[in-house]
Amino acid sequence: MQHCNLLCLPENYMMKYYLYHGLSWPQLSYVAEDESGNIVGYVLAKMEEDPEDVPHGHITSLAVKRSYRRLGLAHKLMEQASRAMVECFNAKYVSLHVRKSNRAALHLYQNTLKFAISEIEQKYYADGEDAYAMRRDLSEINSKKEEQKENESKTEENNESKSVDNDVSNKSAKNESPKHKKK
Ligand SMILES: CC(C)(COP(=O)(O)OP(=O)(O)OC[C@H]1O[C@@H](n2cnc3c(N)ncnc32)[C@H](O)[C@@H]1OP(=O)(O)O)[C@@H](O)C(=O)NCCC(=O)NCCS
Repeated sequence: MQHCNLLCLPENYMMKYYLYHGLSWPQLSYVAEDESGNIVGYVLAKMEEDPEDVPHGHITSLAVKRSYRRLGLAHKLMEQASRAMVECFNAKYVSLHVRKSNRAALHLYQNTLKFAISEIEQKYYADGEDAYAMRRDLSEINSKKEEQKENESKTEENNESKSVDNDVSNKSAKNESPKHKKK
C-alpha cells in the first residue's frame, strides 16, 4: 500500500500511520491486486473520533496505479470502504479532502460517488494548494442495510414457521393409526 501511495501521490505517510489504520479499523481499508497479488490500488480509511458529531468515516488516501486506471477500481474500493463504515460503525457520512486541481479525483467523487463540497480549506496542502473538503451522505447505504436486516429477519421467521409446520406434520404422520396406512 505504501509503495502504491509513493508512486501515485505527493501525500505520503510513515509506516506506523498505515499500521494505526489497520489496527484500529481493520474493516475499512481495502486493496486491489493484480493476478500475481501485487497491490495496484488501495483505499486507506478510518473513523473520525469526534464525540460532538454523528459517527462518520474519513478517506485518508486513495490511489490506483497508472496502468490500472479507468477500470472502476477506485469506485469499487470507495464503495467497499463506505459500506464497511456503515455496517461496522454505523457511519452517517464519509468525508475527505481533495486538491482543487485534481480533476480525475473530483470527477470520481462528485459525479460517480455523489460527494458534495462542504468547505474550501485554504492552503491545506504542504505546497500551498487549497483543498475541497467533501462529504457523502451514507443514508442510502444505511437504509439498504435496514432493508436487508428486515428481509433477513422475515426469511428467518418464515423458515422457523416452516420448520414448526414440518414438525407438526411429522408428528401427526408418526401418530397415524395403522388402519390409515396404505397397505
Ligand atoms: C483518482 C483515481 C484514484 C481514480 O482511480 P480509477 O480507478 O481510475 O477510477 P475509476 O476507474 O473507478 O473511475 C470512476 C469514475 O471516476 C471518474 N474519473 C476517473 N478518472 C478520471 C479522469 N482521468 N478524468 C475524468 N474522470 C475520471 C470518472 O467519472 C470515472 O467513471 P467512468 O470511467 O465510468 O467515466 C486515480 O486517478 C488515481 O490514483 N490518481 C492519483 C492519486 C489521486 O489523485 N488520489 C486521490 C487523492 S484525493
